[in-house]
Amino acid sequence: MDKIRIRGGKSLHGSLHVSGAKNAALPLMAASLLTDQTLTLVNLPHLADITTMANLLSQHGVSIHMNGHAAEGGHTGRVVELSAGTIASTTAPYDLVRKMRASVLVLGPLLARCGQAQVSLPGGCAIGTRPVDLHIQGLEQLGAEIELREGYVHARAPRGLTGTRILFPKVSVGATENLLMAATLARGETILANAAREPEVSDLAHCLVAMGARIEGIGTDTLRVIGVDGLHGATHQVIADRIETGTYVMAAAITGGDIELIGGRMDDLTAMIAVLSKAGVDFEPTDRGFRAARTRRPLRGVDVMTEPYPGFPTDLQAQMMALMCAAEGAAMITETIFENRFMHVPELARMGADITVHGASALVRGVPYLTGAPVMATDLRASVSLVLAGLFARGETVLNRVYHLDRGYERLEEKLAGCGADVERIRGEAAA
Ligand code: EPZ
Repeated sequence: MDKIRIRGGKSLHGSLHVSGAKNAALPLMAASLLTDQTLTLVNLPHLADITTMANLLSQHGVSIHMNGHAAEGGHTGRVVELSAGTIASTTAPYDLVRKMRASVLVLGPLLARCGQAQVSLPGGCAIGTRPVDLHIQGLEQLGAEIELREGYVHARAPRGLTGTRILFPKVSVGATENLLMAATLARGETILANAAREPEVSDLAHCLVAMGARIEGIGTDTLRVIGVDGLHGATHQVIADRIETGTYVMAAAITGGDIELIGGRMDDLTAMIAVLSKAGVDFEPTDRGFRAARTRRPLRGVDVMTEPYPGFPTDLQAQMMALMCAAEGAAMITETIFENRFMHVPELARMGADITVHGASALVRGVPYLTGAPVMATDLRASVSLVLAGLFARGETVLNRVYHLDRGYERLEEKLAGCGADVERIRGEAAA
């Protein structure tokens, strides 16, 4: 298994390209199931989770052509054509779903297009129990008959789905996306109230509109969908990854550096920018994206609470915690989205961090320095928080279980090294 070795203490300077957003790309790929025509996605990131989704879609009968890298238009990602001419299977098997929870996003499209779907329940996850009850209840409200048997969701809608008003009791990105896709082909009008407003949801909605869907209220918490008889092919560019962007902003901040995020969108990160500005980071738009620098001021502790968009993202909480370890003063970090998303705390503590957890809050007291150590993490964002800590730490940090990072960060070590970090991947057996 690969490892990543970081020798800390170098401040980051330069520029890096932000990749296409993983969490936008996954539902967009699932949307290809809604039409027998070709959906072309531009700026797809090269990540393990994208490969997992491609494998799942292939076994549903989707033919997939990857057209390599395309550099025009400022993006560096791949162009992928997905054609679901006929659906070969409406079953998403456990072996694929257990690798990636986002597989459940095929449920809505398969049910809407084929009138049935059997999707394995994803099961628990390192960061929380993460049920899919909101997806299921919403589809039932659209008229689906659903049974949970032998670890699978068995969904049927032999006479099609029918639009209705669905009020989500809790904001859920995945449930909003699943229901939005299903509603595009439902009879009549569907209202999704208390819908997630994440930029990835809006990106999906824009793509569906390009495919012929009728959706109003994009970007708000109330989506109105007027069902159509069929969708058609389209070409859509995946938005830049705001979480990857935010992660590299924090890498610049923790090292006292100054980097340009090419393709980065400040508008998608207003909550993080407000918090980091208070902490001592300067931001400036550029022709190609924006710059983040922490060269003029010391880092200060700032309190943060994660919230659904447009609040501070849970997917940046672990990185923020690493950053606050390097700040003067204390910071209270409260996680409200997932019940078990502090697994980075003991690993950061092994590097010398001073963090006390009380329920859903962690009190981080800044320390003058961290020390490098061998570390490992149990999920994607926790892993990258340890990379950030390693960039700040004295000495050498070796991150194990790099496969977590590879699920969501494309060429992380190259991007960081390109800005002057001393970081390298130790491959396979050499790492054993
Ligand atoms: C998406 O997960 C992201 N994944 C997550 O990113 C992200 O952390 C999360 O949204 C929150 O922003 C993808 O987009 C592929 P939710 P999702 O449904 O859709 C509860 C990363 O690191 N809930 O918005 O699964 C749930 O348990 C990942 O890239 C229910 O109770 O998240 C959680 O507490 C990790 N019932 C809250 O809602 C349901 O049916 C929000 O989850 C669904 C969710």
